[in-house]
Formats: sequence, C-alpha cells, structure tokens
Amino acid sequence: MILVTGGAGFIGANFVLDWIDTVGEQVVNLDKLTYAGNLSSLSRLADDARHCFVRGDIGDSQLVRELLKTHKPRAVVHFAAESHVDRSIHGPEAFLQTNILGTFRLLEEVRAWHAMLEPAARAAFRFLHVSTDEVYGSLGGDDPAFTEQHPFQPNSPYSASKAASDHLVRAWHHTYGLPVVTTNCSNNYGPLQFPEKLIPLMIHNALAGRDLPVYGDGANVRDWLYVGDHCAAIRRVLEAGRLGETYNVGGNSEMRNLDVVHLLCDLLDELRPRADGASYRSQIRFVTDRPGHDRRYAIDARKLAGELGWTPSLDFASGLRRTVRWYLDNQPWVDDVTSGAYRGWTELNYGARSAAPVEGAHS
Ligand code: NAD
Ligand code: TYD
Repeated sequence: MILVTGGAGFIGANFVLDWIDTVGEQVVNLDKLTYAGNLSSLSRLADDARHCFVRGDIGDSQLVRELLKTHKPRAVVHFAAESHVDRSIHGPEAFLQTNILGTFRLLEEVRAWHAMLEPAARAAFRFLHVSTDEVYGSLGGDDPAFTEQHPFQPNSPYSASKAASDHLVRAWHHTYGLPVVTTNCSNNYGPLQFPEKLIPLMIHNALAGRDLPVYGDGANVRDWLYVGDHCAAIRRVLEAGRLGETYNVGGNSEMRNLDVVHLLCDLLDELRPRADGASYRSQIRFVTDRPGHDRRYAIDARKLAGELGWTPSLDFASGLRRTVRWYLDNQPWVDDVTSGAYRGWTELNYGARSAAPVEGAHS
C-alpha cells in the first residue's frame, strides 16, 4: 500500500481516485482537512476497503510514526501543503508551519522508519514530493521555459515555503540516503479544485452573476496542466523516476490570464447562456494586482518525456471544456465547499481590491 498526504485536497483527491481506479492498490490517506480538504471529493470511496482515511497533521510525529508502523507503505506521496498564493500573502505562518516544518517532521519519521526496513523493502521504498514550478521564480516574455537546472528564485511566501520543502527533501536524500523523487508542476486545473484558484473561481462567480476579478492587466502567463495528466505523471515518476532527481511536469499550454477568462466565458456562453443573452465577458473587471505577482511561468518538461515517456494527453481547450462541464454538473459539491468560511475569504481577498481600469486591456 501507499501513504498519501493531503489526499482530500484538489490534486490529492484526484490522485487517490485515479490510483484506486488504475492501480487498485490500497491507500492510506492522511489529511488534516483544512478549509481546502473535502471528504465529499472522495465520497465514491466511502465503502471501498482500499481507501483508509485518517484525519491528522503531517507535523504530528507520533501519528505519522504509528501510521507507518501499522500500514507499512511501500511509498509516501506527499501532497499536503498550504497551496494558495493569495492566502500566503495574507497569512504566511501556516505556510511555514505545514510546508516547511510539517515536511521536515514527515521526512524525519519516514527516515527513521525506512532505516529499520529489511534490505529489499528499503531498496524498493520511495518518497515522492509533489512541488510546483513557482519555486523557480518569474520569467520574462522571451525567456526560455524553466528546466530542472533553473535556480530557485521564489517570490511569494507560498513559493518560498515550497522551495524550502524541496531543499529539505533533497538534503534528506543526500545526507541520509532517503530514496526521494520530486516533481515540479505547473498550474493544475480540473474537477474538485477549490474555487479560490483562478479557473474554478471564475466559473463560480460567472454563474453567480458576480464580477470576474482579473488581477492587474491580465497579461500574466501561466502554463496549465489538466489534473489527470499530473496524476499520470506522478504515477510514472513513482514507478521509474531516478532517486534524488527532480522532474518538471507541464502542459505545453502557456496562456495569459485574460485569455483563460475569455475562453471560460465563451464556454459558459455556449453551455449555460445567461438569461439576458449577454456574454459572461461583461462581468470581467480588472482589479488591483496581487503584490509581487509573478509575470510568467513556463515549464520545459523534456526530461520527463525523454526519460520516462510521459507527455500530457489533453490540450487546454479540451481540458477546459471538460472542467466547465464538471462544475456545471457538480453544483452541490461547489455549494458544499463555498459555504461558511469561504465567504470570509472572499471578503478578505477581494473586499479591499478596487476596480482598476487598465490602459490597453480590453474585456
Ligand atoms: P489543496 O490546497 O487543494 O490541498 C491541500 C490538502 O492538504 C488539503 O486537503 C488539506 O486539508 C491538506 N493539508 C494541509 N495542511 C495539512 C497538514 N498540516 N497535514 C495534513 N494535511 C494537510 O492543494 P492542491 O492544489 O491539491 O496541491 C497539492 C500539492 O501540489 C501541494 O503540495 C502543492 O504545492 C502542489 N502543487 C499544486 C499545484 C496546483 O496548481 N494546484 C501545482 C503544482 C504543485
Ligand atoms: P492562482 O489560481 O491563484 O494560481 P497561482 O497564483 O499559483 O498561479 O492564479 C492563477 C493566475 O490568475 C495568477 O496569475 C493570478 C491570477 N488571478 C486573477 O487574476 N484573479 C483571481 O481572482 C485569482 C484567484 C487569480
């Protein structure tokens, strides 16, 4: 069996569902269930003996020790993190606590347990650390995409905390011989993503008749990868990645934010037209930019393609259509996760952002 951390979050839940469907091996899922964790994402596994959910913190050393001893996983896939840049700007401490200290405590427990395994099990064991392209910093418009050799230049509390965790994982390999692999992936999108991130937030606001808040001039660029393709990449790296290596994962889909929002509006105009016949584009508003907003991310994933044969299966247009359909068909899930604390977050993050008319930007 494998131990997954953060498996009730967006990518973790997609990974657990995918893993049970494709590999069929048992999963112990350790998740603290912060605002971003939702057991309803895993409801179809409620009666499946291959999924064992444990509510707890990766920083709870005793709990992790007991889980390792009881379940004897052959691998740990580490998703658990605080993951939203805007939240890290409003309150960085939780990011340092979970992403750095939590990862450190997890590594320490895994190291102690790994050292006691029989040689064959010790050799086969893997710790896969799931990380982000944001550790590399920001690119100019004409810069080549990030390779695995790009220096770490994190700019937000979130990316700084993830960069720190990547360094810890690397050090636990070099110093203690822990068998680790790390993936650095670009922006994911797809089903089960909490509507604080760009794509689900825009779908949610559009349908609710609210403004579509585009930060700054809307020309920041992200590379987008469908979450199912990310899960497939992680499975492949877990299976065949070289120890101590990092692998970039990307979608070859660089897009300006405003273009993403336009595509979403067009899809919604087609699939769920507004009652008044107007386009959802009319809800777009340019708002005060995010402080320290990284201009561009782009991923060079040729190492993963060349060594392990992974490439994304979905292009952005098909992935986005599939995603919009999922949100339209799963309104109860959205209603469930946007009740309660979600409202406080939207007031905190968007209440103080003034509408900012941007020269040269057209909605
Ligand atoms: P998410 O915020 O949706 O989910 C995080 C999960 O971790 C939640 O279920 C939460 O309850 C859990 N968690 C948080 N703190 C915990 C703790 N101390 N102990 C146990 N569980 C805890 O995040 P996501 O978007 O699914 O991202 C998962 C991982 O992938 C993160 O490490 C993130 O840095 C990385 N990543 C995300 C993206 C992306 O676009 N979302 C891209 C690249 C890499
Ligand atoms: P986000 O989904 O938060 O991911 P990240 O910051 O990790 O890339 O944001 C994606 C892009 O969309 C980023 O450039 C910020 C921008 N953005 C907006 O313009 N408006 C919003 O309301 C949000 C949440 C993001």
